[in-house]
Amino acid sequence: MKVLVATEKPFAKVAVDGIREVVEQAGYSLVLLEKYTEKQQLLDAVADADALIIRSDVVDAEVLDAAKQLKIVVRAGAGYDNIDLAAASSHGVVAMNTPGQNSNAVAELALGLMVYAVRNFYNGTSGSELKGKKLGIHAFGNVGRNVARIAQGFGMEVYAYDAFCPDEAMTAAGVTPLHSAEELYSTCHIVSLHIPATPETKQSINHALVNRMPKGGILVNTARKEVIHEDELIQLMQERSDLKYITDIMPAADMKFRTLFEGRYFATPKKMGAQTAEANINAGIAAAKQIVDFIENGNTRFQVNK
Ligand code: 3PG
Repeated sequence: MKVLVATEKPFAKVAVDGIREVVEQAGYSLVLLEKYTEKQQLLDAVADADALIIRSDVVDAEVLDAAKQLKIVVRAGAGYDNIDLAAASSHGVVAMNTPGQNSNAVAELALGLMVYAVRNFYNGTSGSELKGKKLGIHAFGNVGRNVARIAQGFGMEVYAYDAFCPDEAMTAAGVTPLHSAEELYSTCHIVSLHIPATPETKQSINHALVNRMPKGGILVNTARKEVIHEDELIQLMQERSDLKYITDIMPAADMKFRTLFEGRYFATPKKMGAQTAEANINAGIAAAKQIVDFIENGNTRFQVNK
C-alpha cells in the first residue's frame, strides 16, 4: 500500500514524522509531494497511490482519473470543498475529513486577528479592548465552540447563530443563541465566520447582511473566501468607513481591498489558521490512522461522500 501526502502547504516536520510512523507501522510506504507548484506534479504522483492525504489541495475529476489505484482520500482538516465528492464516488474513492483536529489552532488565530483589529493593526494609536464587546459566532461547529471558549476568557459577550445546532448546545457553553444570521449581524460588534463553503453559503455574506452591523463593526474570516460576496463587501466598505474586514483567506480582489481600505483591511499572505505544529500533528496523524483503519477494517466513520 502506498500512501501519498500531497501538500502544497506542507505540514510541520514533526507531523510528517508522526504520519510516517503510523503508515510504516501498518506495513505501508509513505511518499511525500510537498510545495508542488504545478498540477501535473500531483497528477504524476497520484498515479500509483492507494491512499492520499491532502490539505486544501484540489482533488477534482482530473486528479481522480489519474489516480488509478486510489481507494481513499483524507482531507487532513475540516473543510472538504476542495474535493469533488461526486467524482470521488463515481471513481469508487472514499473521501474523509478529520473534524475537530485543527479547530483550536483556527480559533486562536481568529482571536488573534480580533486583537490585531481592535488595536488598529498595532500602529501605535489608541485602540479598544475585546472585553465587553459582543461577539457573533456564525456557525457553532468545532471552531466556533473553541472561539466561544477563548472569547469568554477575554470577557466578551458571546452570541451564535447556527441553523443546525440546538440552542441547548450553545447555552450549555455559556453562549446566547440567536435565530437568524440577520439577528447575529445586527447584534454584534465583531462577527467571526465559521461556515463551510457550500452552494448555499457561497457569496452569502453580502451587503445587506454586513450592513446590519453596528458602528465600528469588524468582520473576521477564518473560514473560506467563497462565502464573501466580495463586490458587495467592497461597495459597503466604501459607503461605511467604520467597518473593518480581517481575513485569513486572501480575497480574489485582495489588491482592490488593499488599495481602498488601508488600515481597515488585513489578509494573511497564506491561510495559516491551521498552520501550527499541534494542528498538523493532530490532523495529519488522524488522517493516517483513518486510512489504516479503513484499509484494514473498512471503518468509514468519517466518510463525507456517502
Ligand atoms: C480546514 O478546513 O481544516 C482549514 O481551513 C485548514 O486548511 P489548511 O489545511 O489548508 O490549512
